[in-house]
Amino acid sequence: MNSENLLVTGGCGFIGSNFIRHLLANADFKGRIINADNLTYAGNPENLSDVAETRPGWYLFRKADICDAAVVRELFDNYGIDTVCHFAAESHVDRSILMPDSFIQTNIIGTFNLLEAARSRGTGFRLFHHISTDEVYGSLGPVGAFTEETPYRPNSPYSASKASSDHLVRAYHETYGLPTTLSNCSNNYGPYQFPEKLIPLVILNALEGKPLPVYGDGKNVRDWLYVTDHCEAIRQIMEKGRRGETYNIGGHAEMENIAIVEMICDLVDEFAPPPKGGSRRQLITFVKDRPGHDRRYAIDFKKLHKELGWSPAESFASGLRKTVRWYLDHRAWSERIRSGEYQSWIREQYGERE
Ligand code: NAD
Ligand code: TYD
Repeated sequence: MNSENLLVTGGCGFIGSNFIRHLLANADFKGRIINADNLTYAGNPENLSDVAETRPGWYLFRKADICDAAVVRELFDNYGIDTVCHFAAESHVDRSILMPDSFIQTNIIGTFNLLEAARSRGTGFRLFHHISTDEVYGSLGPVGAFTEETPYRPNSPYSASKASSDHLVRAYHETYGLPTTLSNCSNNYGPYQFPEKLIPLVILNALEGKPLPVYGDGKNVRDWLYVTDHCEAIRQIMEKGRRGETYNIGGHAEMENIAIVEMICDLVDEFAPPPKGGSRRQLITFVKDRPGHDRRYAIDFKKLHKELGWSPAESFASGLRKTVRWYLDHRAWSERIRSGEYQSWIREQYGERE
């Protein structure tokens, strides 16, 4: 990827931290990464502590809020930003139902601030890559899949705020000629995912013998992609994707939630047999459904495959096995997040949240 100073926003979150690790392991990448993250509850500098130690000079972290236009402008000027890969967002649908405000601020206003700063760089600016989700397309019936031509029909405050940011990115390309690419990806899973999302939540609850909450009838379908496959797709789109274009990214791995929860139970039983015997499946608990719960997502990623040759390396079975193993081997990571020890460390290190 041709970039001297790459701004990665939200690099301390789940996908952003995997992306930075992935990019720095790629011999073709010669630039410097500036990771700007506000360290909300979902951002954890520990996700990249080894990178920070081994790549001084090539990787630097700035605690910065993308909702603050002056801070964003200062970042661009100070570090001579020529490329952006924009992950920073409020990302959890359930939280967006309870507290939509921060979703509007970060996902819409934050993206606008970044686009304005990128525009101000003029012709020296190379690329603004925007990370988005398949949830902007709404819900599917039992057949068919989202293509890049599917009309937007977002159903949650989260997906509506992401849809809004996608439209802004498109408009900046059409109106100002800003070099942009945009990717809409299906549900990710893998190491470093915050344990509020289905897969890590179920792994940790299963290990701890807690109830495994399944919303509604458990038959909602998502198309799952292992996080490093997503990272490689982003890298390829940034390198070779046509400017002004959107690419869908998916795993060809449609699964009902209940089937995933059962697979996790069986893997946890295999790796950490329950002390008193039995099966973790006994912990499965059907709970009240999420309001506006999209029934089914599925991604058609033919465009990405045809134009750039990308396809996922992991199957759902192989990726889930790796993921369960990772959470079992990194109990301290999740315990720190859950205990609140991590939040007090952030307060000490960076001062109170602004
Ligand atoms: P995450 O919640 O794990 O991480 C988000 C990161 O953004 C955190 O580090 C957080 O501190 C940071 N952040 C939040 N508000 C900020 C602000 N105002 N200023 C600066 N930083 C801020 O999210 P994720 O799962 O890694 O998702 C990353 C991106 O990928 C998001 O844009 C999301 O919409 C998109 N996406 C996620 C999935 C998925 O399954 N997780 C799928 C498709 C697309
Ligand atoms: P989630 O991981 O929150 O991702 P998203 O809502 O962005 O798809 O949820 C994935 C699916 O799992 C979704 O259909 C909601 C469901 N779900 C549960 O059944 N129980 C849970 O505790 C959670 C967090 C999600």
